[in-house]
Amino acid sequence: MNIAIFVSGRGSNLEAILKAKKQGFLDSNFYVISNNQHAKALDIAKCYDTPAFYFEPKPKSLFEENALKLLKEKNIDFIVLAGFMAILSKDFIKEYPHKIINIHPSLLPAFKGINVHKRAIESGTKFSGATVHFVTEEIDAGCIIAQAITPIDQEDTETTLEHKVLSLEHKLLPQVIKWIEQGRVFIKNQKAYVKDAKYGSYPFNPELEI
Ligand code: GRF
Repeated sequence: MNIAIFVSGRGSNLEAILKAKKQGFLDSNFYVISNNQHAKALDIAKCYDTPAFYFEPKPKSLFEENALKLLKEKNIDFIVLAGFMAILSKDFIKEYPHKIINIHPSLLPAFKGINVHKRAIESGTKFSGATVHFVTEEIDAGCIIAQAITPIDQEDTETTLEHKVLSLEHKLLPQVIKWIEQGRVFIKNQKAYVKDAKYGSYPFNPELEI
């Protein structure tokens, strides 16, 4: 497959994906698109010899026009938002129906939006985690493909919880991309499923040491 990864910042999820490709866990050709020219993710793409492109974020219509042009040119089949800090328009999403996913650092539908770890701790909830879901017009609301869970301990701070969740994200996102490559992700009655996946004990590839 040809997969575009949209990024805006640090790029740790991008790195997890590119590492998984390097280790032979993923097969796709990856292309990186950033709306931030200073994103560390662009340096990461370079380190992994992955084509990367920057398009000005404003106006949004122009960013999307440029991105779409590139997506068509590279025959992109699927889009992964990995720390992409912008909301895609309805028209853009329509171009890739059920072919755009996002990773979010909470157990959706709880804690959509920003400041997720702070809000999770303040709420007193005992578990948090990461969610990979399809992207729809409504923010963090598309159907959920997979989740990974961590307890929130009494001593946890926003920073420690972020680290716990990030290390889950780095396994979950490559795993979901693998399932997509294998054609195992499907939608039925507006819910997403993975054929033969055991949700109770994630079949993370034990070879994959990220
Ligand atoms: C991650 O926590 C992701 O879940 C959220 O934005 C953050 C991006 O981090 N959508 P990174 O750029 O992948 O390090």
